[in-house]
Amino acid sequence: MRSHQVGSEAGAAVSRVRSAAAGVGRLLRTSGVLWTASIVLDRAGLPAVGLWPQRTLSYETLNAQVSAILQGWGMSGAHAAITAEHLLYADLHGIDSHGCGMLHDYYRGLAAKRLTVTPTVSIVQEGPTTALVDGGGGLGHVPADFAMKLAIAKCRETGVGAVAVRNSGHYGAAGAYAAMASRAGLLGIATTNTRTPAVVATRGVEAVLGTNPIAFAAPTADAERPFLLDMSTSTVPVGKLMTAWRRGRAIPEGWAVDPDGSPVTSPRRAANYRRLTPLGAAPEMGSHKGYGLAAMVEILSSVLPGLRAAEDGDQRVGHFFVVIDQKRFGESAAFESALGAMLGALRASKPINPDEPVLVAGDPEFAAREERTRNGIPLSRFVIEDMRAVCRASGVPFLLDDVDR
Ligand SMILES: NC(=O)c1ccc[n+]([C@@H]2O[C@H](COP(=O)([O-])OP(=O)(O)OC[C@H]3O[C@@H](n4cnc5c(N)ncnc54)[C@H](O)[C@@H]3O)[C@@H](O)[C@H]2O)c1
Repeated sequence: MRSHQVGSEAGAAVSRVRSAAAGVGRLLRTSGVLWTASIVLDRAGLPAVGLWPQRTLSYETLNAQVSAILQGWGMSGAHAAITAEHLLYADLHGIDSHGCGMLHDYYRGLAAKRLTVTPTVSIVQEGPTTALVDGGGGLGHVPADFAMKLAIAKCRETGVGAVAVRNSGHYGAAGAYAAMASRAGLLGIATTNTRTPAVVATRGVEAVLGTNPIAFAAPTADAERPFLLDMSTSTVPVGKLMTAWRRGRAIPEGWAVDPDGSPVTSPRRAANYRRLTPLGAAPEMGSHKGYGLAAMVEILSSVLPGLRAAEDGDQRVGHFFVVIDQKRFGESAAFESALGAMLGALRASKPINPDEPVLVAGDPEFAAREERTRNGIPLSRFVIEDMRAVCRASGVPFLLDDVDR
């Protein structure tokens, strides 16, 4: 019995070494010696990856590369354009955790046949103010775009539109969809659950909920600068662990815990444990409120559209969208001027440090958009090399190449 156990442990170790060697071989062929050496050093605990400079690319170049990858996977031109627009919303708005950096993950889902790139998005059930949409088992950007447009159309007719989506996938930044409503001059809410649980309950050590974001947009006089709150209900989303890892930075205590519930500061260990804290980090800092918000999002995005946890441990992804017409509650101009005055008063409130004025939700992302539209979008070497690997594996030309190797 014992010798059988030792034999199978040795077999598992050999297969781990073989798969690591195959991975290094692949990396060498795709990205060259220096990058491979950096990754190996990084895995050994020396943060070499963070020493590589970022590369700055225009929105147009990235859009061409992302669209080429998606179409190379077999996605239609129309679906690729919608997916690229919502994916690059994140990169353009400084939300580096949810843009191009996700492509490698999406490719893994495709290779594992977990998702399709030719989904049929359909309305399952519909009333004057509500609808249930089936996402067809693909990425979430297209069904979310479809559902938000449907909610906006219903809202224009009746004053309110609420659309739930089932059988969908990761849709990137929730704010991209809430902003569709505010651009249409309406109030918008967008939520989603996630495929794999990554957040512990307050008092718990098991990952039981997703990072389940909520976005809320309210239109101001400037259609491109609404009030736009877009936040995960965990202290940070998983993508921020990956961003810290790619930059070679430790994470603060309170973002994530180990299987005993003790704080973890290595982003790599935290990503492996996948046990983030609910917003608030600890009970004495109010984590029960983040936990409650995450459960609320799960109810709206998963229980409401009829999704349940699957037997393989993966949840099915669902979304929820609400659009409200403020004109049904009084004059639109009065709403906009009252909101403008409210936001102005918040921004004008006295800061702790005069160099760091008080902001309102959306301000950091709009500042990033202005800066990145002018100067380009910075991408870490990690993301560039991941995209190179995805292009190679998908037989798609790599268009970002005057990167120094
Ligand atoms: N699709 C998914 O499965 C999924 C899961 C989790 C998160 N996400 C996305 O990840 C992104 C990042 O989430 P996050 O929680 O890290 O966001 P964050 O902490 O960076 O920002 C949250 C909100 O706070 C606002 N904000 C930031 N600084 C502020 C300040 N000083 N004053 C006032 N407001 C301020 C921002 O404008 C934003 O609206 C979001 O786009 C979210 O939708 C997606």
